[in-house]
Parts: sequence; C-alpha cells; structure tokens
Amino acid sequence: MPQRLRVGITGCGRIALNHVKALQNNPAVELVAVCDVDPGRAAEFATTFSVPEHYDDLGRMLANAKLDALTVASPHPAHEAAVLAAATAGVHVLCEKPIAITLDEADRMIEAADTAGITFGALFQRRFWEASRAAKLAVTRGDLGTPTLGSMTLRLGRDSAYFNADPWRGTWTADGGGVLINQAIHYIDLLQWIVGCPVVRVTGRIATLKHGADIEVEDTAAATLEFENGALGVVSAATTYSPGLGTQVLVTGTSGATVSVTEFPEGEPAYCDIWTIPGQTTYRLPYGTDVESDPPLSKVHEGLMPYHAQQIDDFIAAVLEGRDPLVTGREARNALAVVLAIYESSRTGMPIELPSV
Ligand SMILES: NC(=O)c1ccc[n+]([C@@H]2O[C@H](COP(=O)([O-])OP(=O)(O)OC[C@H]3O[C@@H](n4cnc5c(N)ncnc54)[C@H](O)[C@@H]3O)[C@@H](O)[C@H]2O)c1
Repeated sequence: MPQRLRVGITGCGRIALNHVKALQNNPAVELVAVCDVDPGRAAEFATTFSVPEHYDDLGRMLANAKLDALTVASPHPAHEAAVLAAATAGVHVLCEKPIAITLDEADRMIEAADTAGITFGALFQRRFWEASRAAKLAVTRGDLGTPTLGSMTLRLGRDSAYFNADPWRGTWTADGGGVLINQAIHYIDLLQWIVGCPVVRVTGRIATLKHGADIEVEDTAAATLEFENGALGVVSAATTYSPGLGTQVLVTGTSGATVSVTEFPEGEPAYCDIWTIPGQTTYRLPYGTDVESDPPLSKVHEGLMPYHAQQIDDFIAAVLEGRDPLVTGREARNALAVVLAIYESSRTGMPIELPSV
C-alpha cells in the first residue's frame, strides 16, 4: 500500500463538496481525479479544487487515474454501477447513502466487494457525532440494562425548490422513495446501531400528504419495528413541517434509563437532551434555540462537514490498516432493508420479516 492513497470522487454535486474538503484535509490522501457525467461540472469542480484530472466517464477514470480508493457521490441509481466498477478495478470504495434503492443491487455490491477483497464503506456520518457515540457507549456498557424501546422521530421541512432541483428527486424509479430513503435512513441506521441489534420485523404505512404536486414518493411515514433482542421501535418521519423541528433518536432499557440523540436545527451537531442514567449528567444539554425558518441545505451540509470528514478519515484508516470501517456496506444494507420493508408493509398491509444476512 502506498504512503498516500490516490483517491477519486464520482459525482460532483452538492454533497461532493463535503467529500472534497475531507479528502484534501487528510494527510494520507492525494485527491487525484474527479468524475461527473456532466463534463462541464467535472471540469469546474476540478478547477475550483485544484484536482489534477477530471473525467465524464467513470470507466475511463478507473482505467487511467491509478486510484486506490473512490468515493461515490452520484445519484442513487448510479451507485451500484460505480461500486461494481470500483470492485472490478480493485479500488476501495466509500458510497453515499442510500447504498442502493433495492436489496438486489445492495447484495450485488456487497458480493462484488467481498469477491474483489476491497474495503466497502457507506456514508452515515451522523454516527460520528459525539452524542451518537456517547449513546452507543452507554448501551454497550449496559447502562440502560437491555434496550426495550427505541424511537426515531424526524420532523423536517422541504419545499418545491428542493424537490424540483433535480429531475431524479421525488421519483420511485430514480430516488427510490421519499423521506424514508433520503432522510430517515440516517436515523434508522443510528437507531439500529445504538440498540445494537438488527430489526427483524416491520409494520408501516407511508403517505404523500403535502408535497403531492412535486413528488410521487412519500412525504410522511409511520412504522413499528421489532428488534432481534425483542425490543420494540417506532419510526415517525415527515418532510411536511414548516419550519422543521429536527430529529431525535431515543432508546430506553430495562434499567429504566433513557438516552437520546437530538439534531436541532438540522445539520447542527447533535446533543443528548435526554440522559437519565443515574450519576451521569455529562451529556445532558438543553434543547436548542428556537428557529423560525429552515436553514438552507448548504448550511445543513456545512454543519455535517466535520462528520463527513471523520467518516472519510475512518474509511481511509480502515483501508490502510486492513480493517472494517465503522459503517460497512453490509450495515448500510440493514438500514436500507428496514426502509424497503416499510414500503412493502404499506403496500401489502402486512408485517414484513427481515431475515438476518
Ligand atoms: N450523507 C449526507 O448527509 C448526504 C446529503 C445529501 C446527499 N447525500 C447523497 O449523496 C448523493 C448525491 O446527492 P447530491 O445531493 O450531491 O446530488 P446532486 O444532484 O447535487 O449531485 C449529483 C452529481 O452526480 C452527477 N451524476 C449523475 N449521474 C452520474 C453518474 N452516473 N456518474 C457520475 N456522476 C453522475 C450529476 O451530474 C451531479 O453533478 C445521493 O446518494 C444523496 O442521497 C448524502
């Protein structure tokens, strides 16, 4: 393994700004190439960030740029092809959420990575908040006893401008869903990680109740979960709030103690506003200040930048050390499986079992 990893980015849109900054600040990385199907965008991005090479075709970038690793920041339907191409080329890959929009795609990606022996990570940077780590540690230490009930509540605002910014947004075929697959998937991952075991059964309903003029996918979702250890869970998620009221993941256990991870306003580092473990007050912080309007998405992304950086640093370290990153492709599949099971349950009116993989 070379001293500095030669890394490329595919997809030069909004979230790639977080990737480029994180990669260029990592001393073990040389950002050598970027790719976008829009050649003008690739060229502009390369110029803005002084990246030596730019491409409008990922195959050519993989053939020419001698990459060790690739980050994938393209729209959802492009993720599978990017990960398969990287795996075939023996290039380690870190893919934005959701890793895919079907489990078949996700399984092919995981299998290709396993076969090629590459490191395959997925972006869920909210795991890197100090509050998330504190809650995870409390559960791992047994401070809650055995987790009994977990919830994730997402109360965000999105408007027509957001949904109409790109043709792929808000469609079943390209976006793969609405609030669940785009926003809630971060906190479903967080909830499963903090509870510490997978969801095995899901019942849910989705609806499009506010943004029907802009999207065909859901803007509102409610679901119940059953975890492998018998704990129950609740998902409540909508992009209909104005202004948004942030998100909260909350877990309680047999000891009676409760911890929460709350993000408010959206994009600000989360804090633990509920922390009732006897003798521990360290993480107990007051609820955030009132906001009258939603922060622009660029500010949300900027607030998440340090955690993108921590996750990208963890991925680079994992490649160099030959270990798994904190969030593997397999774990990202678990979060996707819960989202897709809520869709299926809503369609069929039946509970959906999730086999362990
Ligand atoms: N982790 C987070 O907090 C977070 C936040 C926002 C978006 N995302 C995810 O990041 C990904 C990109 O989202 P975005 O908001 O940056 O989208 P975007 O539309 O702003 O950017 C996507 C870019 O990819 C390019 N593109 C399209 N098809 C491509 C292909 N086949 N190969 C290479 N480039 C291609 C587009 O031209 C565009 O420049 C999505 O998976 C999204 O869900 C993650």
